[in-house]
Amino acid sequence: MIIAGERCRLRPYSIDEAPLLARLAGEFEVARWMTATFPHPYRVDDARAWLARAVSDVPVNHFAIEVDGRLAGGAGLTPHDDERRGGAEFGYWLGPAFWGRGIATEAARLLAEHALTRRGLRRLAAHVFARNLASARVLEKCGFVREAVLREAFVERDGTVSDGFLYARLRSPAGAP
Ligand SMILES: CC(C)(COP(=O)(O)OP(=O)(O)OC[C@H]1O[C@@H](n2cnc3c(N)ncnc32)[C@H](O)[C@@H]1OP(=O)(O)O)[C@@H](O)C(=O)NCCC(=O)NCCS
Repeated sequence: MIIAGERCRLRPYSIDEAPLLARLAGEFEVARWMTATFPHPYRVDDARAWLARAVSDVPVNHFAIEVDGRLAGGAGLTPHDDERRGGAEFGYWLGPAFWGRGIATEAARLLAEHALTRRGLRRLAAHVFARNLASARVLEKCGFVREAVLREAFVERDGTVSDGFLYARLRSPAGAP
């Protein structure tokens, strides 16, 4: 399962890329805006454990973002299987060396379209720290709508309490921005 764009392609992870994944994902500038389940420091063993789960998912939920043949980051879905079934949490990150080139926007757009069409999901939701302006912008460029400001919802890694945004994109035409 490969989803190709102009700037990047999404492909399944490989179990043997744990050292590279740990190096890229280990940057504080990445971890600071991810949920606390994203470890920091990010050890090779953390990467191995995460990859073991990611590569066993059928269908593929978590994709490596590859740029010019190099691992650059990740984009993934966490589908819900409870009363929210048909929906998924949506997320992505890129190593800082790859920022500012429209790569996350393309990767997020490719994954959202895959999720809403081929996977048939109804709703994709993303929770964003309000200060993460780059990510909010990526979501808006990909047709996600800001549904809520989540006041004092999150605690940043340095202990700062901050607001969050809830963004979502729907499959139905009514969900179009
Ligand atoms: C968020 C992230 C994925 C963006 O990656 P990227 O490839 O640099 O994003 P793009 O280049 O596609 O687009 C970024 C957009 O944000 C804008 N932007 C960047 N920094 C900004 C800032 N401080 N304030 C406002 N806008 C900003 C850019 O100008 C661009 O918008 P434009 O195309 O309208 O000019 C990357 O910064 C990252 O991995 N951050 C850490 C992890 C993370 O935040 N993941 C998402 C969790 S919800």
